[in-house]
Amino acid sequence: MKLTDKIALITGGTSGIGLAAAELFRREGAKVVVVGTDGNRLKAAETMLGDDGFAIAADLRRPAEIDRIIAAVRQRYGRIDILYANAGLGRAAPLEAVTEEQLDEQFDLNFKGLFFTIQKAVPLMGKSGSIVLTTSFLNAKGTPGLSILSATKAAVRSLARTLGAELAPRGIRVNAVSPGPISTPFAGKMGLSEQALKNFAEGVERQVPLQRFGEADEVARAALFLASDDSAYVTGTEIVVDGGLSQF
Ligand SMILES: NC(=O)c1ccc[n+]([C@@H]2O[C@H](COP(=O)([O-])OP(=O)(O)OC[C@H]3O[C@@H](n4cnc5c(N)ncnc54)[C@H](OP(=O)(O)O)[C@@H]3O)[C@@H](O)[C@H]2O)c1
Repeated sequence: MKLTDKIALITGGTSGIGLAAAELFRREGAKVVVVGTDGNRLKAAETMLGDDGFAIAADLRRPAEIDRIIAAVRQRYGRIDILYANAGLGRAAPLEAVTEEQLDEQFDLNFKGLFFTIQKAVPLMGKSGSIVLTTSFLNAKGTPGLSILSATKAAVRSLARTLGAELAPRGIRVNAVSPGPISTPFAGKMGLSEQALKNFAEGVERQVPLQRFGEADEVARAALFLASDDSAYVTGTEIVVDGGLSQF
């Protein structure tokens, strides 16, 4: 058990990678609080957690809602040991088609929401706290149609370094996990046509050196390493979980 008695807050913990992490962190002994927006997914996550945590609805694009999450965690557990800031969304569009609304939506959740989640969680974190950020292999790779999503993820990669430097004197570590193409509902929400999604899936099998999509649990295991004391001397860095896509 790597997280015995730890308190973990996981945003986007109701689906995909965050849900896999919530299940894994719970099995490793943590109490887990998950955040999402969809009522049914929140209920299912709460059932899965049982007495080992709870689920809370909040739109992380609104900083006032983040205050409410932090107040709920403070009231129930009094502290946060692990913050996995993972919630995110992507919209695909070529340069000419990107709208102001799309740009705001992605930056508001992927960067602004994540930033204020960290800002508001840190006062509840003591020495040996661990913050894990979900970025993406896109932070280092140019992919047509994904300019805004990729920029949000590059900004998050940058935060692991700057906030890692700021929080190191307090003993709080900040690291990132960068998933490649992972089997979750994420791609299905990007606004791609069925044909484009099919092409994407075929492209993954051709281009990823390990020739398949990754599983959410394979990303959660990297997050577990960064969340736990196994990585006690690791901060500011990133673990890329992409089947080799961005490396070869
Ligand atoms: N899957 C991939 O291929 C891939 C690759 C690289 C990076 N990533 C990153 O991995 C992270 C997790 O994605 P995933 O693949 O697990 O996707 P997912 O299954 O779609 O999960 C997204 C999570 O974010 C939550 N969320 C969305 N909008 C929110 C909002 N406004 N406020 C609060 N929570 C919100 C969702 O909750 P509701 O459903 O309840 O709204 C859900 O729990 C994202 O940051 C994504 O960018 C994914």
